[in-house]
Amino acid sequence: MASSEPQGAHPEAAQEQQIDPWSVGAATDAEGNALSFDYVKISQKWNTSLVDDALLERFQKVTGHAPHRWMRRGLFFSHRDFDKILDRYEKGEKFFLYTGRGPSSGSMHIGHTIPFEFTKWLQQVFKAPCVIMLTDDEKSMFKDGLSLEAAHDLALDNAKDIISVGFDPKNTFIFSDIEYVGGHILMNAWEFSKTVTFNQVRGAFGFDGSTHTGKIFFPAIQCVAAFATSYPELWSDTPPKDRSKETAKMACLIPMGIDQDPYFRLLRDNSHRMPRPSPKPALIHSKFLTALQGVGGKMSSSDPNSAVFMDDTPNQIKKKINKHAFSGGRETLEDHRKYGGNPDVDVAYQYITYFEDDDEKIAQIATDYRAGKILTGEMKKMCIEMLQEYVAGYQARRKEVTDEVLRAYMTPRRLEPSGSTTLPDRSES
Ligand code: TRP
Repeated sequence: MASSEPQGAHPEAAQEQQIDPWSVGAATDAEGNALSFDYVKISQKWNTSLVDDALLERFQKVTGHAPHRWMRRGLFFSHRDFDKILDRYEKGEKFFLYTGRGPSSGSMHIGHTIPFEFTKWLQQVFKAPCVIMLTDDEKSMFKDGLSLEAAHDLALDNAKDIISVGFDPKNTFIFSDIEYVGGHILMNAWEFSKTVTFNQVRGAFGFDGSTHTGKIFFPAIQCVAAFATSYPELWSDTPPKDRSKETAKMACLIPMGIDQDPYFRLLRDNSHRMPRPSPKPALIHSKFLTALQGVGGKMSSSDPNSAVFMDDTPNQIKKKINKHAFSGGRETLEDHRKYGGNPDVDVAYQYITYFEDDDEKIAQIATDYRAGKILTGEMKKMCIEMLQEYVAGYQARRKEVTDEVLRAYMTPRRLEPSGSTTLPDRSES
């Protein structure tokens, strides 16, 4: 709901940030300049918990793994009941991961793959089954001119991209809503929709009397994918014909961008009211990734210069970073050496923090940049090399994802950890 009008001719008033599942806009100052997102503010407004040191310590203690750098560095900054998932893990109780994507055109960019990377890492740490929903139905409902057929094609294409991130083939189920929603999951959606009033969806999403009814029903679909009863066939070789109360008790952890929270507030408010009640799903929220243009910018599938895309060539990556990545460096070499740069707004530095795991190394880079010892060109060079390596690894895996591999992930079947999957490197183990 892009309700807020652009500032247009009268940019005299500063604007609040606005965040919902379909549009995200940074706050602006009185001159209309985009400001950084205020994540503490959104966490307070929506009453989520911040990922704090106590939680990070507990994570380490319970799992035996260092928290992912994206947790340590605040990219995954907020949660609901993540601590309760740790309690369950400690007790050896089974839970599953659920995340998703609204399929969109063309190749994914790093802003899309990073949340999936994080989910994959959680899967490796917890050896947890993972379900991934492709909301081709949602995209077609919310995007004018996108047919269901076209949205479905995009979903299949995006599924191959998601597989290339490296999810455990034995422990991951990917589905397109258009293909899969029927039977148990649809029964859950109808039951769930019976617990949700129009006032609740209006409150969560800002719908009004002229919103078409597809949009009003859709949230039920996205929500009930967090119920284990939506997929009895994933949890046993001899699936029970019916959804069982026992299965309903399996907990769920949902990694997501903070903009998706309104869906899952609705879910958490109503999950205990299902005929087969489920525990409130736990959530972990990420910030938005910085666009090449810097704060307030948005990585956009339709703007090739806003992001590094997963099908970019090494040379395209180099050119993009050199030409478009906002720099916190000074105008001239002399000034930079004398006064130093600002890593906080430097996009190349931000991207390095996404990929370099070593905290001390990161701190050193920031210090040296501030002191003018590292130049903008040098910062960009480090960034380019990291991105080239990341994208090349991904592209090599993408080549292996045939239609057969795709169908294997998309077949409902009993999920179990492969056993062979180990954490990729020392840094994350
Ligand atoms: N609505 C999400 C999108 O447009 C897709 C989605 C479905 C999702 N289920 C999810 C995202 C669970 C995060 C977690 O991208």
